[in-house]
Amino acid sequence: MALRPAVPLLAPSILSADFAKLGEALSMLEASGAEVVHVDVMDGRFVPNITLGMPVVAAMRKCTELPLDCHLMIVEPSRYALEFVEAGASWVSVHQEADPHIHRTLDSIRKAGAKAGVVLNPGTPVETLTDLFGDFDFVLLMSVNPGFGGQGFIPRVLDKVRRLDALRAERQTSFLIQVDGGVSLKNAPELVKAGADCLVAGNAVFKAPVPAAAIQGLQAAMRAARMTIA
Ligand code: DX5
Ligand code: ZN
Repeated sequence: MALRPAVPLLAPSILSADFAKLGEALSMLEASGAEVVHVDVMDGRFVPNITLGMPVVAAMRKCTELPLDCHLMIVEPSRYALEFVEAGASWVSVHQEADPHIHRTLDSIRKAGAKAGVVLNPGTPVETLTDLFGDFDFVLLMSVNPGFGGQGFIPRVLDKVRRLDALRAERQTSFLIQVDGGVSLKNAPELVKAGADCLVAGNAVFKAPVPAAAIQGLQAAMRAARMTIA
């Protein structure tokens, strides 16, 4: 992932899908043109909620060709990161707040053949990443406190996206900026204009009357916003 994508990517979050019909949800995402599938892994310790683990990722891997983007909201993520790659994750992201040896974890994810990402909670400044530039493929900025879908977007994250985009340009380094939490048709254009390359959307897709139409609407808004800065 040396270069930023020509068009911004949409990563619907299956956390908001019906877990009894994951196969159908994945088929719908693929047919609708979603670029990435965001998979929220929660352990009940790093965050208050518990979701799914490697067996479910392996089962999803059999149902879709789309890249599976595993967002690990777990303590000691280095213990499990490679197991998620083995289960079929193409992207694996680890919270900086959860891993004192994140440099090593990112390196091991890359060596296993997946894209390595660092996640920052809303209260963690983007400047804490500067000594890791070059060692990750993407940064995931949380725009809610992680743990649940359907929360409200925290507006000051827009400034974090701008600051990270500026740091990326200043250091002439390339990585994707992903944003996760409360993404909607209302804020997606501003996020893309601020420098985001990949937006995660849970409720905005799966709670929409027609999820496929919501995907296409978000993608159209993101692409139009990108054109204004190209
Ligand atoms: C929150 C998760 C998000 C969540 C997003 O902890 O990391 O990926 O699924 O859902 P929405 O888009 O509904 O905020
Ligand atoms: Zn997530």
